[in-house]
Amino acid sequence: MKQKIEQLKNQKNAVILAHYYAPAEVQAVADYVGDSFYLAKVAKQSSADMLVFCGVSFMGESAKILNPDKKVLMPDLTADCPMAHMVKPGKIAQMRAEYENLAVVCYINSTAELKAQSDVCVTSSNAIKIVKALPNKNIFFIPDRNLGRFVAQQVPEKNIILNDGCCPIHAQIYPKLVLKLLAAHPEAKVLAHPECEPPVLALADYIGSTAEIIAYAKSDSAGEYIVCTEYGVEYKLQQDNPQKRFYFPDPAPCCAGMKLNTLERLYAVLRDETNEVLVTDEDRERALLPLDKMLELAK
Ligand code: 13P
Ligand code: SF4
Repeated sequence: MKQKIEQLKNQKNAVILAHYYAPAEVQAVADYVGDSFYLAKVAKQSSADMLVFCGVSFMGESAKILNPDKKVLMPDLTADCPMAHMVKPGKIAQMRAEYENLAVVCYINSTAELKAQSDVCVTSSNAIKIVKALPNKNIFFIPDRNLGRFVAQQVPEKNIILNDGCCPIHAQIYPKLVLKLLAAHPEAKVLAHPECEPPVLALADYIGSTAEIIAYAKSDSAGEYIVCTEYGVEYKLQQDNPQKRFYFPDPAPCCAGMKLNTLERLYAVLRDETNEVLVTDEDRERALLPLDKMLELAK
């Protein structure tokens, strides 16, 4: 399967992008593996004719918006992120009417339709930097209340208004699960994604995006870590640090959408060029502005 994928990729001048939550065997054949910010940058800069995105819908959509002339395919078009839809219709317009000097800051984990109504996109690895750089005093942060709250703590000079959305996977990493692991491994450091709920973040030694967690574990001197994010990151963590131990909450946090990216489906879309990601012209033109603004401000 790996060989066949390699052949098709070369034949079609295609590249495979995979998020750290994609299945390990898919990460193993990908040309680029990373967090959502890295993958958006790769999508913008790629000279390939075809991008096969092993992630969830908002990632494939962002790649298409940044690259309208390229064919963007996904192994499974139903791979979705529930949080990407968690803003009530009309809410953005309501906030714009209510607050002066307001910027709508949209976590990249959102639909193209929501991005199209926003001023700037952010990811978990650049949100603090971008919110700090905005001239606006009032920030409506959508859709994730947990990342929004985390940013608000780091940027107290802004009035950050939260939206009541969250990642159902990170929300189920309960503090009791982390405390149980800490009791069994008292020397372990706790690494958490900012999508976790506040009681889990309060237990963390380090909070960061998937790529930041991976970079931290590599440069840090501890030997064991409790990792509070989706278990797909284990592949890279273990690859980078074969001598270190990584513990995940039990049950292991698993993003169902990400796991739809199987090797078989990846092979089939490369072969048949099916599952093309399509975005309406109107959404594409309007959502490009906040995505480009993110890439500019995050430089
Ligand atoms: P990262 O930007 O850290 O890769 O996070 C994406 C995501 O979906 C987290 O749940
Ligand atoms: Fe969305 Fe959560 Fe899956 Fe990330 S882990 S893609 S936020 S559902």
